[in-house]
Amino acid sequence: MRYQLTPDLETGNAQIDGEHRELFLRINRLLDACSVGQGREEAGPALQFLLDYVNTHFQHEESLQREAGYPNYPGHHTFHTGYVKKLRALAADIPSTGATISDLSLLNRHLGTLITHIKVEDKKLGAFLKSR
Ligand SMILES: [Fe+2]
Repeated sequence: MRYQLTPDLETGNAQIDGEHRELFLRINRLLDACSVGQGREEAGPALQFLLDYVNTHFQHEESLQREAGYPNYPGHHTFHTGYVKKLRALAADIPSTGATISDLSLLNRHLGTLITHIKVEDKKLGAFLKSR
């Protein structure tokens, strides 16, 4: 499965949508690395790379929220912090010999959580930013 920034995932904010698009590219690269049997050892480093981008992107989103006085900032921030923790824990768990099937299925679940977050919370944020 490949991730794509379909119209239902667009927030209407150019910066956020651009970063989500880049995020999906990195996720797809990570999944490609994992799907090639012998590429599974790349999963750990590829996840680290993704984690860096997620971190930076979350910080950008949060600055936009603080600047705009976004009322849902505390909840959104709590989600971001918890999410980064989960990804970090998974990255730390992946042995250097490569991701296991259960690592990959957990990763897929985490990605699903992120998609839902974009669909619901980031879209709310986009609508708020637009309404100002
Ligand atoms: Fe977010």
